[in-house]
Amino acid sequence: MTRNKISIIGAGHVGTTTAAWLAEREVGDIVLVDIPATGDMPKGKALDLTEAGPIWGYDTQITGTTNYEATAKSDIVIVTAGMPRKPGMSREDLVGTNARIVQSVVEQVVSRSPDTILLLVTNPLDSMVYLAKKVSGFPRERVLGQAGVLDSARMRAFIAMEMNVSVESVWAFVMGGHGDEMVPIPRYSTVGGIPITDLLPADRIEAIVQRTRGGGGEIVQLLKTGSAYYAPGAAVGKMVEAILKDKHMVLPASAYLEGEYGLNDICFGVPVVLGRRGIERILEISLTREEKEELQRSVELIRKTMSMLPL
Ligand code: NAI
Ligand code: 2OP
Repeated sequence: MTRNKISIIGAGHVGTTTAAWLAEREVGDIVLVDIPATGDMPKGKALDLTEAGPIWGYDTQITGTTNYEATAKSDIVIVTAGMPRKPGMSREDLVGTNARIVQSVVEQVVSRSPDTILLLVTNPLDSMVYLAKKVSGFPRERVLGQAGVLDSARMRAFIAMEMNVSVESVWAFVMGGHGDEMVPIPRYSTVGGIPITDLLPADRIEAIVQRTRGGGGEIVQLLKTGSAYYAPGAAVGKMVEAILKDKHMVLPASAYLEGEYGLNDICFGVPVVLGRRGIERILEISLTREEKEELQRSVELIRKTMSMLPL
């Protein structure tokens, strides 16, 4: 059986945390690419992860390099290259620097892996997915972004804390862009299959919604030197596993919309079915007037950031 090839561009905090998650589960062999100012950092991280294999019990091949040749014919390429935000910055403040990086990364990747799936992580996420879609020219099935798996995991954690129940009993539903205008939807968020709107008072739900929206910023304020990576790495790993194992898993993802939810020519967080072809289907659900208004605010923030892209 041929093994999947997973390339991760950007061997920083999120890139290597994702690599560790995927290596341990033997989802595929991994190529880590970075362009450090000095030293041989990607090689060092790849060797370190390889040396964890005997302890964890995995045979994943992990290569670290500064050269894109090793990424040729990847089954999936994860793009985490770019700056994380610091305290006081929004994700949108990163657009100038990260757009230049993502454009050059995508050009180098697609020339060597024209049939790959691109999974974007770099912020501002939805605009970077849009940029990758336009630069690659790929069909929308093969360009997507990670945001909602992380945002809904945060909401699940907060619900579990509030109700003192296992995180495994909790599901949460977050739509929209990966910005502070994201749209957590309580009536589709459940504990043991029961909507939290039947289980918690409105003020506690509102507190959970607000904490979810500010979840990335809360970590930035605590770390001071960068942004979250353990939960993001797990979120990316989950999406890669759903795709490469062809699981047809329903997860939120940033996808290029062509009329769904009344939106066109924008990348936006929606529930999708993920399988070996990438995005197999986009699920459209009914929304209340208030939820539609909240989504519209998220759309406006993304369109404002998109207007700064070099397209
Ligand atoms: P980091 O600073 O630890 O790692 C970024 C890496 O990218 C660095 O090692 C840097 O050398 C590398 N890099 C920069 N330009 C490059 C290029 N042209 N080619 C190859 N590598 C390049 O940052 P971290 O924490 O890993 O975050 C990475 C990005 O992911 C940030 O933009 C951050 O905002 C975003 N992020 C997005 C999340 C999401 O849910 N979508 C969650 C967490 C982070
Ligand atoms: C987060 O939400 C930085 O976007 C990243 O943690």
